Amino acid sequence: MKLIAVANYEEMSARAAEILLEQVCAKPDSVLGLATGSTPVGTYQNMVTAYERGEASFAQCRSVNLDEYVGLGSEDEASYHYFMWHNLFHHIDIRPENAYLPDGKNLDARDACTRYDQLVSDLGPIDLQVLGIGSNGHIAFNEPGDHFVADTHIVDLTDATIDDNQRFFQRREDVPTQAYTLGMRPILNARLALLLVTGAGKAEALHRSLTGPITSTVPASILQLHNNLIVIADEAALSKF
Ligand code: GLP
Repeated sequence: MKLIAVANYEEMSARAAEILLEQVCAKPDSVLGLATGSTPVGTYQNMVTAYERGEASFAQCRSVNLDEYVGLGSEDEASYHYFMWHNLFHHIDIRPENAYLPDGKNLDARDACTRYDQLVSDLGPIDLQVLGIGSNGHIAFNEPGDHFVADTHIVDLTDATIDDNQRFFQRREDVPTQAYTLGMRPILNARLALLLVTGAGKAEALHRSLTGPITSTVPASILQLHNNLIVIADEAALSKF
């Protein structure tokens, strides 16, 4: 594991974008594993700026997102579809048909998960997987539990996650209670995993994930097994080390 300690959110975002852009320049048809949440917004802004300056093209890239809320589609502003188009895809030259997220509108969980697993396996290993971390240690929507799950699955969101994410919704009761999420297999198989962590609210989760036992009660701890993990964390996130 390589830990890149930075001063703040802006530095984290700049370093993360640099690594993503290096990846895309070195391999224009990269499979990018992308994440949502507040954490990667600045990274995506830097990618858009680089694209606008002509420093990168995503025309040959394929992207797979980690997760989506069950019941929400691209027309819902709180959906991860909407987030990705609004924050990144609309502003770069990725082809719409090459940008994938789980289908939150497919309420047949088995079908939705099987289709997404097939898609991810057809694309081949993810070249670079961007990850954030939940304050409870979740990655994607793999919530703390009594076991790790390998494949795409439906999850019941924990109260802590619903509390954390309610800021993206008008009312707490609007937050969906379930999500589709990639499991740990494609995350661990990614050629490079890039974990971005910012703010004091993530300090405990980060510390437990990197220094504690590998346990499904702290899902991000499984990243200790990743062969090629880069963590970019700011001072506040590193305050427990
Ligand atoms: C969300 C997403 C995760 C994300 C995490 C942290 O619920 N499912 O992929 O990494 O929670 O979000 P944020 O970056 O907003 O703190």
